Amino acid sequence: MHQRQAGVSVVGSGAAHPSVALSNEALSQMVDTSDEWITTRTGIRQRFLADADTSLASLAAAAGLSALEMAAIAPTAVDLIILATSTPDDLFGSAAQVQAHLGATRAVAFDLTAACSGFVFALVTAAQYIRTGVFKTVLVIGADVLSRWTDWDDRRTCVLFGDGAGAVVLKADERDRLLGFEMHSDGKMNNCLNLTYTSQQRELVDGTTVQQGTFQPITMNGKEVYRFAVTRVPEVIEKALFHAGLTAQDIDWLLLHQANQRILDAVAERLKLPADRVISNMATYGNTSAASIPLALDGAVRAGRIQPGDVIASSGFGAGLTWGSAIFEWG
Ligand code: ACO
Repeated sequence: MHQRQAGVSVVGSGAAHPSVALSNEALSQMVDTSDEWITTRTGIRQRFLADADTSLASLAAAAGLSALEMAAIAPTAVDLIILATSTPDDLFGSAAQVQAHLGATRAVAFDLTAACSGFVFALVTAAQYIRTGVFKTVLVIGADVLSRWTDWDDRRTCVLFGDGAGAVVLKADERDRLLGFEMHSDGKMNNCLNLTYTSQQRELVDGTTVQQGTFQPITMNGKEVYRFAVTRVPEVIEKALFHAGLTAQDIDWLLLHQANQRILDAVAERLKLPADRVISNMATYGNTSAASIPLALDGAVRAGRIQPGDVIASSGFGAGLTWGSAIFEWG
């Protein structure tokens, strides 16, 4: 291992989603909602849902492989895999399964949990290993299967979420293309958005008990989270831009966690960015949590919209509460 400073470049992207899509029309046969309500309040038209054959690890590995192929990097060249997820197949973590799926035999792999901020936090974490010279090639994957933990009888939340995965490859480079970042948490607002563990007491022997149970479906105070997002997201982007020595006018693409089109529009307005600079894939995928940013990035890269050298202002926000921004140059 070399102890030298290095820059970071983002050289490949990939994505994967389950094959089965659920439309707003189909949802409105399950709960008291309508395509009109969902579309106007959120911008979402459909979402993909994982079936019994689609594991979190298989989605994450497919996205990772596609990113490695774009970067023309062999899985055996990867030093580190960070899997941002809140919905692992295994509570001990799913990153090692992804490593095995990919045949990335040299890579150490671990999970990182920060809900919808997970991808931005993982990107920044990965970059630190490269900047310190510890690793040269890192695969960052954001993947979630929130459908497992969605309350499909709760119209306030079940219309929002979908499943998917996205990935980027980071490489050591002479020039640092991670231009600035900023990250925050506020546990005092934790009760706004939860996937809580609940348990029952079991007495093992006289006086010794353990708590055993399971996680409960997602609960969310939508209004509070909305208010939080439209305030904190522009603020954290501006701080990350400040660290980068840039202003909002230097942003080529605004790449936000795809939670709600109205949040995207409000943030763009605050930053005085025109709508054609805002990347949105929410209509097709819904809110895919840690996957949403790299999934949207990959779509825009493969469509030829994002070009090498473009400045991307990304921002994740969600449960924790957590929020963060990374400003980076593509390619
Ligand atoms: N269909 C029809 N009506 C509905 C639905 C639905 N799916 N959901 C709620 N309503 C009703 C409500 O019951 C309410 O009716 P009432 O006035 O009779 O009580 C009315 O619509 C308005 O409800 P609001 O909650 O005020 O709707 P709002 O405009 O705030 O939109 C939404 C709700 C879309 C959830 C919005 O608050 C939002 O996007 N919040 C942010 C969510 C978010 O960003 N999450 C990101 C983090 S996700 C993560 O980290 C895992």
